[in-house]
Amino acid sequence: MLVRDLCKSFDGQVVLDGISLSVAAGELLSIIGPSGCGKSTLLRCLNFLELPDRGEVRMVGHALRRDGGRWRRADEASAHALRAQVGMVFQAFNLFPHRTVLDNVLLAPRVVKRAERGLARQEAMRLLDKVGLAAVAGRHPGTLSGGQQQRAAIARALAMAPRVMLYDEPTSALDPELAEEVLQVMRQLDAEGMTQLVVTHEMRFARAASDRIVFMDAGRIVEEAAPDQLFTAPTDPRTRRFLRQFL
Ligand SMILES: Nc1ncnc2c1ncn2[C@@H]1O[C@H](COP(=O)(O)OP(=O)(O)O)[C@@H](O)[C@H]1O
Ligand SMILES: [Mg+2]
Repeated sequence: MLVRDLCKSFDGQVVLDGISLSVAAGELLSIIGPSGCGKSTLLRCLNFLELPDRGEVRMVGHALRRDGGRWRRADEASAHALRAQVGMVFQAFNLFPHRTVLDNVLLAPRVVKRAERGLARQEAMRLLDKVGLAAVAGRHPGTLSGGQQQRAAIARALAMAPRVMLYDEPTSALDPELAEEVLQVMRQLDAEGMTQLVVTHEMRFARAASDRIVFMDAGRIVEEAAPDQLFTAPTDPRTRRFLRQFL
């Protein structure tokens, strides 16, 4: 994945100030930084849920570019095609409350990919088993723990057979032990070669599981490094100041 000079402002306030980044296939990249520095906006711009003002994103075989001109229907079609191969998981689970866990996982493949019912169901059960939820497939999200709901949300994203997964603080609504269950699923996906970008406040996870960590501040990438290097020898004073609060 290649991101070049991504810029985004809201009402004249610069939120992304020229983000460039490359992510290798199979890499697990963590993005850290203070609240409000643009992490969520960056993730949303990567799959064009949010329209960047300027910049380029190349991933999963698509190249999307913005240079301030009009966003055309053909551009939206490309964004749609890109999104179909990029799974996204949010802090707040965002499951459909009135559908069972299984139906939550089945919905997108059935509607978007028009997958045949029996096959889609078989695949959904395989994914629920993978995230440790086969036994609760028939229950409604509200009856599950937060950790189970987030694992269901991951299974739902995986049901579209994404090539890249984006996570926006997937564990920040969870108690530590429930967070650990979710992080375990991400580790497993990493071992299977999934490309993953994770915005996280879990410094222990970021350090232990990431191939690389990006530190953002005020809409820019301040520093990117291998985890041990970033944690033991951060070069920028802003990175040092940020990491100090987790000591
Ligand atoms: N849709 C929006 N409209 C206006 N301002 C926004 C919008 N989304 C984000 N912002 C602003 O952009 C800045 C960065 O937000 P965000 O990307 O959510 O940061 P982070 O995820 O790092 O906490 C914040 O000042 C936020 O208020
Ligand atoms: Mg955020």
